[in-house]
Amino acid sequence: MNHDEINTLLKPKTIAVVGASATPGKIGYTVVENLKKSGYKGAVYPINPSASDILGFKCYASITDVPGSVDAAVMCVPVKLVNTCAEDCGKKGVKGLIVITSGFSEVGRKDLEEELVATARKYKMRILGPNIVGTLSNSDKMNASFAPFLPLDGKATLITQSGALLIAMDAATYTRRVGFDKMVSIGNMCDVDIADIIEWLNGDESTTCTSLYIEGLKDGRKFIKAGRASKKPIIALKSGVSAHGAAAAASHTGSLAGAAKVYGSAFKQAGVIQASDLDNLFDRTLALSLMPPLKGENLLVITNGGGVGVLATDAAERYGIPMKFAPKDVQEELKKHMPEFGSAKNPVDLTGMAGTEWYAESVRFAISHPWVDGLIVLYCETAMTNPLEIAKGIKQALNEAGIKDKPVTVSYVGGEKSAAAMSWLVENGIPAYAAPDLAVNAMAALREYALLRETAKEPDYKSNDAARKAAMQIISAARADGRDALTEIEAKQVFNAYGLPVTSTELAKTEDEAVALAKKIGFPVVMKIVSPEILHKSDAGGVKVNIKDEAAAREAFNTIIKNAKAYKADANIHGVAVQEMAPWGTETILGSTNDATFGPTIMFGLGGIFVEVLKDVTFRVAPIDKVQAAEMFEEIRAAAILKGARGEAPRDRKALSDTVEKYSSMIIDLEDEISESDANPVLVYEEGKGLKVVDARIILKKK
Ligand code: COA
Repeated sequence: MNHDEINTLLKPKTIAVVGASATPGKIGYTVVENLKKSGYKGAVYPINPSASDILGFKCYASITDVPGSVDAAVMCVPVKLVNTCAEDCGKKGVKGLIVITSGFSEVGRKDLEEELVATARKYKMRILGPNIVGTLSNSDKMNASFAPFLPLDGKATLITQSGALLIAMDAATYTRRVGFDKMVSIGNMCDVDIADIIEWLNGDESTTCTSLYIEGLKDGRKFIKAGRASKKPIIALKSGVSAHGAAAAASHTGSLAGAAKVYGSAFKQAGVIQASDLDNLFDRTLALSLMPPLKGENLLVITNGGGVGVLATDAAERYGIPMKFAPKDVQEELKKHMPEFGSAKNPVDLTGMAGTEWYAESVRFAISHPWVDGLIVLYCETAMTNPLEIAKGIKQALNEAGIKDKPVTVSYVGGEKSAAAMSWLVENGIPAYAAPDLAVNAMAALREYALLRETAKEPDYKSNDAARKAAMQIISAARADGRDALTEIEAKQVFNAYGLPVTSTELAKTEDEAVALAKKIGFPVVMKIVSPEILHKSDAGGVKVNIKDEAAAREAFNTIIKNAKAYKADANIHGVAVQEMAPWGTETILGSTNDATFGPTIMFGLGGIFVEVLKDVTFRVAPIDKVQAAEMFEEIRAAAILKGARGEAPRDRKALSDTVEKYSSMIIDLEDEISESDANPVLVYEEGKGLKVVDARIILKKK
């Protein structure tokens, strides 16, 4: 993405409004009026076939009549005119089209969008939209939109897929006191998308945090890449998280991979912090745009009320940043700024008697102490103290301490005076909230950012050409046979090519072959039906376990074949798989799906009821490496079981992460072939004893 190209859309030096109107109330009028009212310094050229002047700007019948050069054209003509006007813009040498007009892919007219993109490509123009409100920037004094005014000035940039939400949030910035530098309506993203803007914002001095409202990404992998490369925190609110496509999924993994889970994982991989709702998006944006990340775990809470202190303590645990007692030296120093009956443990309770001086002294000391990584200051409005004075005391203490790399959040609980003091704090660069748990939640976002900066990295991934070649032979043979589901034996051969430790499994076509194979593998063995038409083998009576001798092997072979024929008379039966009987271990499941947005995606969970009933699984967009695989093991609710719960030895997580990495390579290398796959169960043994993939399933993409 060329930085200058996005500049022409978000920081244009001259703007034409194509479809400008002299009639108040029309969008083409409002855009011109907004440019004027916002104090935009560049030239504004209204384009309208019949008007001569709009709001004091000279009007042109066609953009080709404009005397000077034009950076961006804001399109406000009806959809049927957009492409013709875009042609004229191209001829004029316009560099960016900001297309407000609706009536494109959002109503099924993708063809019109494609036509517009083709015109833009022809003239090397970039497009923002279509179907947008426009774009606003405080630092450029530019309201190139039909939103009512520039937002409250601040350091965040909002990128939103909903134009209406931009307008609503624009007004709410004033009531909520959360400032934004830019607000960008991204609309249908027919050309420039969210990832392009994230990349561009790295070089934008006026932005310290990117705030996203996402309905659906088009290119999930591009987004992850842009997120990882972002030099600034990104927070996202994702709507529309109901499971999509799950119902039609043929594999276990497919049915568990809802959009919410996959998006949640992708955000983590992209280093993007999540907001739980709109309030949370505002609150967290405020802290992320004003404060540095919380680099360590030691949080100190200073309060004048025990109640709010306990609420903050509870919230800290809830949001994953539990509090600890402060060390002795910290406590001793803090005791100097409180009465006898105060508490310096953490939360530090200065008591209701605390005035500006005690707050200021405690804040100055605490923020400077090496043990303290972050500070939360709480205040309950009392009759004896002045909320604004205390706010000023806090700010002055922070200025005097001069510590820039530790975050501070504040919460005031009280009435109008407290609200005014909080506004003052925000205007002076300190995030302040009306409830203690909000101040803690904002601090948790700053901690999440610090942690994500460490973990959201490109995986160490190399494709395995030899394995791919071997796998492709098996896949091609199955395709030649007219199948899009591999048999268990074939799937295991593919897994094996990628170094996954599968149980040795071979095909017996006759009873005698079954006996010979069982002897070769060694009793006891497992025997399973092999038929492309029978995917659920147990349901068909097609699985026999713990076969101990030759007689049992003969009987099992015949029973399995008989059961399979009874289950599905026309099933194409390849024979019976004779398989090593792996000793029982902790049952886990690995799987993959092809997500419509993110592509090959890997799933991990514990098997049995954990997956069937609790759906206790986690996802990653592939590829991932061993380290990232190990993070998945920590995420499931039953994580403790792998660590060795209830006196059991810890499971071999090293072998498991190695296997997950290989699985991830397999689904990336075979991205064009594999639609879904499962390794289920994968039996994991004690540390040092490895694991075994007992059953395997691969469903191919239809070609
Ligand atoms: N070049 C320039 N201007 C032209 C033109 C041309 N070739 N042909 C016509 N115009 C003028 C019209 O004469 C009119 O100006 P006027 O008021 O002086 O007559 C102006 O362009 C607008 O055209 P009009 O037909 O009046 O359309 P409109 O204002 O009713 O609607 C849109 C135009 C773009 C606003 C409308 O089609 C639309 O898409 N609305 C939805 C916008 C939206 O909600 N976006 C997404 C938000 S999430």
